[in-house]
Amino acid sequence: MEAWQQKLIEAAKEAALHSYSPYSNFPVGAALLSENGTVITGCNVENASYGLTMCAERGAIQTAIAKGYTSFKAIAVVGLKSNPCMPCGACRQVMLEFDIPQIFLEDEAGQVISYTMDELLPHSFGPKDLV
Ligand code: THU
Repeated sequence: MEAWQQKLIEAAKEAALHSYSPYSNFPVGAALLSENGTVITGCNVENASYGLTMCAERGAIQTAIAKGYTSFKAIAVVGLKSNPCMPCGACRQVMLEFDIPQIFLEDEAGQVISYTMDELLPHSFGPKDLV
């Protein structure tokens, strides 16, 4: 595991500390590494109307895009309660849109595991299908 990967995981953990998850009690953090080296984080934000919950990954992507970052090297996703915290289907689809080459999670033992977008969302429908 390389130092920058570990740093991204740590940034995701720190973001998870800000999670608003009183219903699930399942805090999640995500950290996106932009092409120029900037790290943008997000955490899950739940709602009394449960379906309005926003996942950590989509929160991070939303913030990054709003700040003008459009190209990314990697995203790290961690849960504070249990790992690996596999990205949900909605987040996989949104990550695909922005072509994030590497997805880092932590395994049960705290080791970094790495996935590609194609591993997480094979046979996808995405931007390539609309050209
Ligand atoms: N959650 C995320 O933040 N990201 C995922 O990819 C999986 C699920 C959050 C949503 C909800 O607040 C909590 O985890 C339990 O589902």
